[in-house]
Amino acid sequence: MEYKTPADSRTIVTDLVLPSETNPIGNMFGGELLARMDRAASIAARRHSRRIVMTVSVNHVAFNKMIPLGSVVTVEAQISRAFNSSMEVYIDVWLEDRESGKKTKANEAIYTFVAVDEMGGPVAVPGLRPETELEKSRFDSALRRKQLSLVLAGKMAAQEATELKALFESAP
Ligand SMILES: CC(C)(COP(=O)(O)OP(=O)(O)OC[C@H]1O[C@@H](n2cnc3c(N)ncnc32)[C@H](O)[C@@H]1OP(=O)(O)O)[C@@H](O)C(=O)NCCC(=O)NCCS
Repeated sequence: MEYKTPADSRTIVTDLVLPSETNPIGNMFGGELLARMDRAASIAARRHSRRIVMTVSVNHVAFNKMIPLGSVVTVEAQISRAFNSSMEVYIDVWLEDRESGKKTKANEAIYTFVAVDEMGGPVAVPGLRPETELEKSRFDSALRRKQLSLVLAGKMAAQEATELKALFESAP
């Protein structure tokens, strides 16, 4: 089986926040950020699989910080785990300070993509070998996020979500 690393799929997209992308108090619309994250994540999934990819689930989004008009926003996406045909993509969003250039984390999200053939049917993707400690930790926790997403979507019975159950059973 072929394996790739998260670095192979890493996708970094930097762009400004324009007036048409803001709400009445001058901060970026959540939907605009969701679209930017979806685009960067789909490129990452395509780089990993070299296939047509489709968003199958948005598993987690945290809007932790407001993003003002004129901000320079960097969306960084990379595969955190590959299963059979599905890939979890972790997305980190950074804001760049105008004067110092220092980047601070603004938001993060986790999307799931499926690789498909020309008929839209799921196809197998390469495996993933995480390298850094952060990549390993995201890789290790991805299976329980997949199980949670499948349970919430009604595609898996709660009793079958063994990895998810283990998390609650190990809680102090
Ligand atoms: C993506 C799609 C082809 C998958 O078809 P499907 O019949 O669900 O196929 P499967 O049940 O075999 O699932 C395929 C993979 O997706 C995973 N999956 C399906 N639903 C999921 C969910 N809600 N959360 C996480 N993973 C999910 C499955 O676990 C499976 O993963 P694996 O092969 O790595 O084990 C189908 O759901 C589809 O066409 N969805 C629409 C996608 C789309 O249009 N996206 C853009 C929205 S505008």
